[in-house]
Amino acid sequence: MGYAARITGIGSAFPEKHLSNEELTRMLAHHDVETSEKWILDRTGIRERRVANVENEAETNSSLGARAARKALKMAGRKADDIDQIIYATCSPDTLLPSTACWLQKKIGASNAWAMDINAACSGFIYGLVTAQQFILSGQARTILVVGGEVLSQITNWSDRSSCIIFGDGAGAVIVERVPAGSRQRILSSHLTSNGSLSMLFYVPAGGSNLEVTPERYAKNLHKMRMNGREIFKVAVRTLTECALRTLEKRRLSIERLDWFVPHQANLRIIEAVANRLAFPMDRVLVNLERYGNTSAATIPSALDEAVRDGRIREGQTILLDAFGAGLTAGAVLLRW
Ligand code: ACO
Repeated sequence: MGYAARITGIGSAFPEKHLSNEELTRMLAHHDVETSEKWILDRTGIRERRVANVENEAETNSSLGARAARKALKMAGRKADDIDQIIYATCSPDTLLPSTACWLQKKIGASNAWAMDINAACSGFIYGLVTAQQFILSGQARTILVVGGEVLSQITNWSDRSSCIIFGDGAGAVIVERVPAGSRQRILSSHLTSNGSLSMLFYVPAGGSNLEVTPERYAKNLHKMRMNGREIFKVAVRTLTECALRTLEKRRLSIERLDWFVPHQANLRIIEAVANRLAFPMDRVLVNLERYGNTSAATIPSALDEAVRDGRIREGQTILLDAFGAGLTAGAVLLRW
């Protein structure tokens, strides 16, 4: 008998501290960086974001991931020992070594699992979900925890006004389980892509094995994110649209049949431009970036979690998840909830 993969539980977690546009504008003014609440809201749609206090063990990346994972386990009616694989999507790991997945494994006590990280930046959750699906289809796993978690505030250059305004911290998690091939509720199709020739549009120059962080490089913030926002914006609109259409095409499903579209939450203008190109109504697009900003790999599972818990998403609905990120990476997943 063949298998299919289905999401059976979902959860999310955010740090306590809210950082509003007003507070951020005041904070930047202290560093002689000019911006305004209005500019941030008009150009991004973001009103506030959450910022982790990593001195507090409960707000490290893996701790946020563990909180989200426990909620997902509870919804799925599973215990940590039932998990046989952990996939942690992040580009802001707790440590370069070992993986954040292993730190999380220790925290939730999933002693029967093997654990690994995936770094596809903001597309990480989509890459993780498709990877989980493949292990399930091949018969090698039954119950997989996929987490998208980030503490981007630690790699944000707070003196760069064009990037520091968009990012936030948080985590989202799902339990993906093996179901019989013909099951109605399952992942229906997916499409992954990347274009490494655009790596320089968004990267962290130092801190990897290429460039050590020295005091001089630290002073220049080379260990923080560098982003060409304007160029990414253009590629993002095009790529998100293409990924959505390719994924729908694989199931020969027309866009009108979708109940919900869940795009990566990077900028409201990007989301509106994609919805416009797809001729899909904004009232069926999940948007929560005004409260959390761009939490990279965490945006899609956390937006989905919110909509599942408040009843907007109901059993049997058809949903398209769609992301892009540094790399540049991109991908989409079509599923029936
Ligand atoms: N406050 C005031 N003015 C600003 C600010 C700011 N915070 N930031 C930039 N500006 C100025 C610029 O200097 C520029 O001034 P100029 O015209 O005098 O040169 C002007 O505003 C316009 O700048 P743009 O960069 O063209 O502004 P844009 O409308 O493109 O918005 C933004 C910038 C918000 C970064 C947008 O380009 C964007 O969201 N891009 C996508 C970024 C993204 O999604 N990144 C995440 C990738 S996903 C991942 O992997 C984590």
